[in-house]
Amino acid sequence: MRILVTGGAGYLGSHVTVALTERGHDVVVVDDLSAGNPAAVSRAEALTGARIPLHAVDVADIDALERIFDTERVEAVVHLAGRRPSGGRAHGPLDYYETNLGATFTLLRCMVWYGVDRLVAASTGAVYGSDPVVPSHESGPRADSSFGRAALMAEQVLADVARANRGLRTAALRCFSVAGAHPSGTIGEHAPRGGGLFSMLGQVALGQRDELDVHGGDHPTPDGTPVRDVVHVDDVAGAFVAALDALGRTDRPFSAWNAGSGRPASVLELVRTFAEAVGQRIPYRVVDRRPGDVAVSCADPTLAAEELGWRPRRTLEDACVDHWRWQSRNPAGYPGLIGGERPWRGGVGHRLRVVPPLRVGHGA
Ligand SMILES: NC(=O)c1ccc[n+]([C@@H]2O[C@H](COP(=O)([O-])OP(=O)(O)OC[C@H]3O[C@@H](n4cnc5c(N)ncnc54)[C@H](O)[C@@H]3O)[C@@H](O)[C@H]2O)c1
Repeated sequence: MRILVTGGAGYLGSHVTVALTERGHDVVVVDDLSAGNPAAVSRAEALTGARIPLHAVDVADIDALERIFDTERVEAVVHLAGRRPSGGRAHGPLDYYETNLGATFTLLRCMVWYGVDRLVAASTGAVYGSDPVVPSHESGPRADSSFGRAALMAEQVLADVARANRGLRTAALRCFSVAGAHPSGTIGEHAPRGGGLFSMLGQVALGQRDELDVHGGDHPTPDGTPVRDVVHVDDVAGAFVAALDALGRTDRPFSAWNAGSGRPASVLELVRTFAEAVGQRIPYRVVDRRPGDVAVSCADPTLAAEELGWRPRRTLEDACVDHWRWQSRNPAGYPGLIGGERPWRGGVGHRLRVVPPLRVGHGA
């Protein structure tokens, strides 16, 4: 199938792009490069030997998106473009509603116009709220943050639009703490100054940061630090492939599945495991909690196992080792880091297409 991957130049998107391509699909990436990097796509090409076009457009730009649907013969969509709280930049409620919710409208609009009938979107464990029932089962979302609410609203839009359009099937994969990197060490989370916990651990190990701030040592957890469900990015990428396959077998208009490991680990456990993988001490200090931080977040992965046949195969140790291979080989992120590769300067050496605005009407 020819699959449009939005956010394909990002962390999760580059791994999903590789997994879909290895599965035999043709992938077309749409990414506005606000957080993603074209090198992620060119490295996905190098890993798979496939040609992967990249359209550098905002997925909420309906004219540009329509042009892509018009020219790329899209048959299914995997939607990963979005803002996330640990993406290295501060985002607020408007960013989440505008991008994470708003892009859902433009994508569905184009899918309905062009008769594209399968979409799998990234959602989040944040839909279970700041005081979740753990392990969290798919039936119990009660989001209370703007990030979680925007994701839950997007899921509701996916469900409503699919119910109203015969044949359209949509799904949300609720991702938890995605970690690790492709075992080649060539793609991973591009977060030279911030990013998620693993990127910050790597920054400490590289001497780019003196110590790790552990937010909150007084949570009701065994060691007082927050507990997270860490899942390897390649396992999550496999969940997207499995979900897309499952949409080919079901008449259900909308499905939601947890893409978590179901294995809770405290932040201090993560620090210890990472330190062992890296072979050096990781200095840390416990600081105040951040507003809205969840004490324990952990998925119940049973439904995904039953309905998708998906089970995470990689361990926390695998995630640490793979993440470190990526970050130690790419200490400043993507640009210009692997033998002779140059930073991106507007498409030089890369198949970038800037899509001109569409001039025809949109129909009814
Ligand atoms: N990484 C995690 O732990 C995690 C956990 C839960 C949910 N998620 C969700 O999964 C999705 C992907 O996350 P990620 O970790 O890969 O983040 P990321 O920031 O690495 O990737 C997101 C990509 O989307 C692109 N993008 C953002 N807004 C866009 C727009 N309007 N048009 C086109 N492209 C746009 C960015 O340039 C980036 O390449 C996000 O929606 C995120 O909320 C991620």
